[in-house]
This record gives sequence, C-alpha cells and structure tokens, in this order.
Amino acid sequence: MSNYHIKHLEEYYQVYRKSVREPENFWEEIAEEHFMWQKKWDKVLSWDFSKPEIKWFEGAQLNITENCIDRHLATRGDKTAILFEPNDPNEPAIHISYKELAERVNKFANVLKSQGIKRGDRVCVYLPMIPELAVAVLACARIGAIHSVVFAGFSSTALATRINDSECKMVLTSDGSYRGKKTIDLKGIVDDALKDCPCVETVLVAKRIHSDIHMEARRDKWLQPLLDEASTECKAEVMNAEDPLFILYTSGSTGMPKGMVHSIAGYMVYTAYTFKNVFQYRENDIYWCTADIGWITGHSYIVYGPLANGATTVMFEGVPSYPNFGRFWEIVEKHKINQFYTAPTAIRALSKQGSELVDKYDLSSLKTLGSVGEPINEEAWHWYNDNVGKKKSPIVDTWWQTETGGIMISPIPFVTPTKPTYATLPFIGIQPALMDEEGEEIKGNQVDGRLCIKFPWPSMARTIWGNHQRYKDTYFSAFENKYFTGDGALRDEVGYYRITGRVDDVIIVSGHNLGTAPIEDAVNEHPAVVESAIVGFPHDVKGNALYGYVILKDTGESRDQNNLRNEINQIITEHIGPIAKLDKIQFTSGLPKTRSGKIMRRILRKIAHKDISNLGDTSTLLNPEVVQDIIDNAL
Ligand code: WT7
Repeated sequence: MSNYHIKHLEEYYQVYRKSVREPENFWEEIAEEHFMWQKKWDKVLSWDFSKPEIKWFEGAQLNITENCIDRHLATRGDKTAILFEPNDPNEPAIHISYKELAERVNKFANVLKSQGIKRGDRVCVYLPMIPELAVAVLACARIGAIHSVVFAGFSSTALATRINDSECKMVLTSDGSYRGKKTIDLKGIVDDALKDCPCVETVLVAKRIHSDIHMEARRDKWLQPLLDEASTECKAEVMNAEDPLFILYTSGSTGMPKGMVHSIAGYMVYTAYTFKNVFQYRENDIYWCTADIGWITGHSYIVYGPLANGATTVMFEGVPSYPNFGRFWEIVEKHKINQFYTAPTAIRALSKQGSELVDKYDLSSLKTLGSVGEPINEEAWHWYNDNVGKKKSPIVDTWWQTETGGIMISPIPFVTPTKPTYATLPFIGIQPALMDEEGEEIKGNQVDGRLCIKFPWPSMARTIWGNHQRYKDTYFSAFENKYFTGDGALRDEVGYYRITGRVDDVIIVSGHNLGTAPIEDAVNEHPAVVESAIVGFPHDVKGNALYGYVILKDTGESRDQNNLRNEINQIITEHIGPIAKLDKIQFTSGLPKTRSGKIMRRILRKIAHKDISNLGDTSTLLNPEVVQDIIDNAL
C-alpha cells in the first residue's frame, strides 16, 4: 500500500526518505493506487535538466475529468462537488453535486465541440468566479482542448497579449461580473482586446449581470441556449500523460508574460496528493480556498486537487470587504468550513478591522488554516492563529509557484509542528537546495541562499508556450542541473525553510506576482515620460507596494505632478490592470546607472525602503550625482 495519507511525523520522514531514495517507485505506487488510467505508463520518469526535458508517466493514457468527476459518480453522485457562494449574501448559495457537475461539464464540452474546438486547440477563459468558470475549465480538459485562464481583473491589453501569445481560437466570458458593490463590464474589455486578436473566431458569453451588451454578429454567441441544446453525454477524450492540460501566464522580468505549460498526468497526481495531505481533507469536509481560479492556486486547489479527491470545494464570487469585513467569517459559519486557505494580504487587511468581526461568528468548524502567495509576517501569523484558528487550527504556510503546479514546502497539519513565518519542511518528493552566489550548494543548517530544486517532481511546468529557450534561460541556467525558483530562503537549525522573498525583478504585491519591466514599459508609454524604474517597498497590507522613479521630458513648461501621477496610473491600469498601479511616483532628473547603462536598482530599492545608511560604493556610477538628488526628493 502506498502512503497516500500521512498521519504522523515519523511517517512523514519515512515516506519522505522513500520518495527521495526511490522516486520512481514511490510515485508509481501513488499513481497506480489512486487514479483512473485508460492505459498505464511505460516509464515513470525521464528527465534532463540541461535540455530541459521532463516526462512523467510517459506512455500512459487518461482523462483528468474522469478522475475529477466520473469515478466519483458511483459513490459520491449526490455529494456537493462545487459550492458556489455569490457576491451578494442575499442570493442563495448553489450546491452542484458530482452528478450535476458531470452533466454540466459534458454539455459544455459538447458546445465547445459544436463550435469547432478540437483537441489541442487553445481556449481563453476570461470569466468571473461563477460556476461556469470551473465548468469551462473542466469542459476543455474533457475534450483535450488547452485552457488558458486569464484572471478577470486583467485589462484588455493584457488579455490581448495572452490570447495572441497562445493563439486562442475562442474566448469564454460573461456579460459582466460583480465585485462587491461594483459591476465590471467584462464583455466590453473582451471587445476591446479582440480588436487586436485575429486568431479568435468565437466568443461564448455567459449571463451573469444581465447588462445590455454588444454582441458582434457571427463572432459572439450566448452560452446558455447552446448548453440547453447540448447532450449530457460526452465521451472523455483519451489523452497522453504528457499532453498539455493548460497554459497559465505569469509575470517575468521582461515585458512578455510567460505562458507556463502544465501537462496532464503529473499535474493531476501531484495536486491531488498534496491536497489530501496539506489540508488533511477527510470525506464530508467542506474546503474553501479564497483565491481566484485565474491564478494557479485556483487551478490546483479549487478545481483539480479537490475534485480529484472527491471533495466539496467552495467557490466565492465576492470580495472580503462586501457587504462588510466580516464576510469571510460569515461564510465560514454558514457553510461550516473545515479548511480555509487564503493569502497573507487578506489576513493583514482583515486584521486591521480588529477581532470583533471575527468574534461575531461561530468558527468552530475550522480544522486547518492555509496561507499562500507571499511570506506571512509574524504579526499576521499570530492574528490568524489567535483570532481565526483560536490556537487550535494549525496554519499551513504553503510555498509554491505557478511554475511548480503544486505545493512544494509546507507543514502537514497535525503532523509537522508549525513555526511562525516558516513554510517548514519540503513536501514528499521535493528536494530543495540552497545555493551560494558561486553556484555551490550550501549544506547544513542555519544557512541561507538561493532556493533551487534538485530533482523533478510530477507537477513541474514543462515549458513556456512557444519559447522553450526562455524556459531554459529562466529556470535552468542560473545553477547547473537545478531548477531555480527566483526566491531566497533560509534553513533553520532543524531544517525548516523560511522563504525570504524574490531575488529577481519580480515584486509580489498583495500576493500578485508583478514583473517590473512590463510596468515600466507601460509608464514609458506616457508622452511626457523619458524613462522609469520601478522597485518595491514594504507596505503594511499589501506586503509590498510599488515605487516608481520617473524621468520627465524637459519641455520647458511646468506640469501638475498629481495629474501626471494619475495619468501614469491610468496607463498602467489599461496595460496591465489596477493591481499594478504605483503607490508612489517620484519625478527625478536621472536614474543611477552603471557604466554599461544598467539601472542600479539596488540603490533605488534602498531609497524606497528609507534605508540609505549603506548605499555601497556609488563612485563607479556613470552619474553618481543623481543619487543625492534622489535621496533629497524621496517620498
Ligand atoms: C511566488 C510565486 C503559488 C501560489 C500563488 C503565487 C511567493 C508563494 C509563498 C509563501 C513566501 C511565497 C514566492 C514565489 N510565495 N507562496 N508561502 N511564502 N513566499 O504564485 O504568482 O507564481 O508566485 O510567490 O516568491 O516565488 P505565483
């Protein structure tokens, strides 16, 4: 028997050792005993990080939706698969059973087919957190189409870039979305985006806010009438283990977002296995992850991981502050949530409201609390532990990435003793390494370095869509024969890991991964801007916020600086989305540059952090005099 469900610390160490000593045997047992295959694999693993090429369960055939839906029907047909909690608390929640989910996914899959979508085609999903989003994703998987979900907070330009990069044939969207008190014109954003997307043939539109929208003749169709006509039976396409399941874009250090490609079998096995253990999910538990399916957290731990385990997974359409800051706790009480998974930025925002709103609700159903997306600071950890978990529910601080597909470093609740701000131990099968600047692995404990992973795990991204070279350069070139995460970490005296943050030009703002380059590109679009540089600085709710240094054209006229700031943020909103707006904009006459013309971000970062005691040697700069000028005018 494989160790699918780990229940105590000794067992963790024993299973971990096995997963490292005999990874093939270990994962073969997990895959064999807990999933449904049309054909078993010929080889468990082949890998070469120098190419890089990684294959898990090669030769196997399966469909992930048979694992997430069909195989549960005999025993869990009437069990709630998806529990939808709407934006408006007065609107009733919707329970979608596994049987209903099967019918809805099959209907949707038949609609995709009838609209010309075939195996391997890319379908862009730009939907709010309504059941259609989960159903759309699964419907793509059912017929072997590759879904590319774009978070419905992204702007039309960001959407168009993503649609074109993977040449999506279809876009799935809705007439609009609710977000607290506001409604958002999603279809209008899609219309704007599609002015520059010749690859898109069809747009299917779900009704959510019943607004009066423009429907482009021949291109746009209402979804519901097509679903009404469709059959509830749709045979699952027999897929190969290494066929792509989806593309999900993540920011990088250059302008173009990276379309991370995840393949089917390894992703399924790893997300299911981590879900079971990291949340200690038991039959009849109600599990709620507050993320959006537009991010990897939602893909892996709202949709695929929970459904592969036959779990009940909650989908929440709204925001934590509507109708008031008690909404999360109201939902926990209402649905008797057992596992609650959220982001540090949400915890910090809610903790600012004090504990009265938490105390109003009965949270006794909670067993496990999760945190993801950025380092959780000590204060937020304790607030979460004391007020939400009442010191009884372990906090699992889960470290992972879009690229890793699943949770990599995390406590197992009731198994691994937790420690505030520490993601603790590597998950089963994960072999971390800390590296020094010379490229040597740092052994032993009480050390810190750059976090790499030495050995493949099943759910690692296999490539960047259309750009394998960039995949190699970004993740496999910094350190030989290792996957480089872009994060720094330290390992304490017992081997626990603490993630210290990004060591590259990616800044995590409210848990959103933002590359500085695309934001700088947007700022530079402003006609008055010559050049800009963006760095992060600490923010008590967002974790980090953005600080922009901007050089203006010298036109001889003076301009209102606050107007300029608003205009710059407006351009950022149009190009990327409101999440990338700058909190501070300092206009400056110059930026510190090396003799080769590279901006010295280290100096700018220190000034934004108000830490100018040790700027290092600035004499080698091309223009050392600007440094003092920037300090004098810092915000
Ligand atoms: C980056 C990945 C994968 C979930 C959502 C974010 C940071 C993520 C933690 C954590 C400290 C964390 C890292 C990572 N991060 N979780 N528990 N503690 N940092 O996915 O957008 O791909 O961002 O988020 O810096 O590299 P993502």
